[in-house]
Amino acid sequence: MSLQIILGDITEQEADAIVNAANTTLLGGGGVDGAIHRAAGPALLAECRSLGGCETGQAKITKGYRLPAAYVIHTPGPVWRGGGQREGELLASCYKSCLDLAAAHQCKTVAFPSISTGVYRFPLEQGAAIAVDTILAWLAPQDDVHQVTMVCFDEKTKKAYDEALANSFAANKSKPESSAC
Ligand code: APR
Repeated sequence: MSLQIILGDITEQEADAIVNAANTTLLGGGGVDGAIHRAAGPALLAECRSLGGCETGQAKITKGYRLPAAYVIHTPGPVWRGGGQREGELLASCYKSCLDLAAAHQCKTVAFPSISTGVYRFPLEQGAAIAVDTILAWLAPQDDVHQVTMVCFDEKTKKAYDEALANSFAANKSKPESSAC
């Protein structure tokens, strides 16, 4: 079970499930939300309409339709409002909720975008650290999900995630009984 960081387009990933950085209506939008809906086709929106929205930090699953991925897991990330409104906690909850839902649907491979660090203005370095630490902590005891991929859409985002991953391993090494992840 591992976490890999790549540069790419999440709509092209052949993972069992890809994650959509949605909004609470689940009725589409711009950014990665718009890209996923365009690639999946209108049947995705039709299924999303039946879900009744989703709370920030929670996740709901649909089929992938025309996407290579079998499933899309939709999660509304927090809008950055300065850091005093549980934004970090809610962002961590997005990653955990998506992984729990993926495991419940027997998904062995899951691909994430960088949730909330676009339109929702979550600071990139802080968001990357929360994402990496939450995913690695979730993966450690798990046998269900075998491969998590963070799909970065630009070099700046990939650099932030590469640094977050390096920092996470360095922090683990400094612990007395460090274990490989
Ligand atoms: N593949 C991978 N990542 C992508 C793609 C793509 N095709 N398109 C955009 N991204 C990246 C952005 O560059 C950013 O790093 O996804 C990350 C998240 O950015 P947003 O899509 O703006 O998502 P977010 O910040 O969570 O804001 C969500 O935006 O699109 C609306 O409906 C959505 O209201 C919601 C809000």
